[in-house]
Amino acid sequence: MENSRGTRLQQSKGRRLVLFPLPLKGHLNPMLELANILHSKGFSITIIHTHFNAPNSDDYPHFTFHPISDGLSEGEASTGDILHLLLLLTVNCVEPFRDCLARLLSNVSEEPVACLVADAIWHFSRLVADSLKLPTIVLRTSSASSFLVFGAFPLLREKGYLPIQDSRLEEPLQEFPPLRIKDIPAINTCELEAFYQLVAAMVNESKASSGIIWNSFEDLEQSALATIHQDFHIPIFPIGPFHKYSPTSTTLSIQDHSSIAWLDTQAPNSVVYVSFGSIAGLDETDFIEMAWGLANSKQPFLWVVRPGFIRGSEWLEPLPSGFLETIGGRGHIVKWAPQHEVLAHPAVGAFCTHSGWNSTLESISEGVPMICLPCFSDQKVNARYVSQVWRVGVQLENGLKRGEIEGAIRRLMVEKSGQEIRDRCISLKEKANLCLKQGGSSYQALEDLISYISSFFF
Ligand code: UDX
Repeated sequence: MENSRGTRLQQSKGRRLVLFPLPLKGHLNPMLELANILHSKGFSITIIHTHFNAPNSDDYPHFTFHPISDGLSEGEASTGDILHLLLLLTVNCVEPFRDCLARLLSNVSEEPVACLVADAIWHFSRLVADSLKLPTIVLRTSSASSFLVFGAFPLLREKGYLPIQDSRLEEPLQEFPPLRIKDIPAINTCELEAFYQLVAAMVNESKASSGIIWNSFEDLEQSALATIHQDFHIPIFPIGPFHKYSPTSTTLSIQDHSSIAWLDTQAPNSVVYVSFGSIAGLDETDFIEMAWGLANSKQPFLWVVRPGFIRGSEWLEPLPSGFLETIGGRGHIVKWAPQHEVLAHPAVGAFCTHSGWNSTLESISEGVPMICLPCFSDQKVNARYVSQVWRVGVQLENGLKRGEIEGAIRRLMVEKSGQEIRDRCISLKEKANLCLKQGGSSYQALEDLISYISSFFF
């Protein structure tokens, strides 16, 4: 027993990686998926994480977890103001992260650490790791295409595109076709200068790192990836889609498995799946429009409504009483769904989404056409690419109107005019799956990443 443990330690000597995820689900999920991928390649995994949104270590008995203080009060942790939360976290976590990393590196009973893999938003982490003589590889959890626009913020400010003016929303963004000014990944905030600084720090520190990992693949974002490679002069590793490496999904919120049992009772390609990820919310009026758009489409729907998703409500109070019965039980509403399994289910025929990058990539990987209703930041770029570049969905441009939702659902799922979109979805799904197979671009990029990390030992 001791011998085999000794041999295992010997084999994995020098192959420990420290991962530092940002504690928002859209960032934590892909980092944990990446951890699983790297673990399957023989690396030991240590995760440094905040108390806020801490991953459930019981789900990952093969990793070592080290919590650090994030200094958030209860009120700060539950704020809906994501920028404010990120600004607090990127200040509060610097010293606890430094102490934790230094402690890990000085522990001689563990295998030596090869490198740090940190979320791009943790912009301070590279300097900390540098001071401890540890290389940093950055994980960027959103698309390469939106990253390019973030990188151009100084130019967009110089040219007067930013801050966005309401009178210019429809103008094309000449430097980034087919984006328009309204697609710039900005957010609604009164702390604009702080937002620009956070974006600049994220881009500059990614550029100064030893490499960037992308949850994307060549066939999807060839041009953006090539530009980044050329401009940044550091290795980049597009190894996505992460969630397709393993059949098990991350369980960061309690998932309602009634979703799958309900989908099992529905006809193939008949169901609209509706989810707005982990952060976005809707006003009551928009929520009601959405409900009637779904109802009037006559298609069955599976709708994720997180508690607090409707601004000012606990959960489903604004829904007219008896709504689901009125429409003949055609809808199923849950608080959280096993999204990977849902999108892969044969009953699902369209995805009404806020166009978060994970959701976009998960939908593309399963060949599900999208109805895009982007809310903020990179979601706007993703939605534009879905509708105008990859053409695997439509974007609702005029806000949430029941007639438009109904029309988009019918177009994507029933009408002949949606056939080309459905065909392109199948073809892109094939590419998303092929890139992970031997000889595929993501397969090769992962091999390159492993060799690159291994080169840090010598
Ligand atoms: C955020 C940003 O909004 C997004 O634009 C950015 O690209 C990443 O960070 P989020 O809004 O949560 O993420 O959206 P998304 O990127 O789509 O991530 C949501 C994740 O939660 C997905 O992996 C999805 O599979 C999962 N999910 C969502 C579930 O597992 N169940 C659900 O019911 C809803």
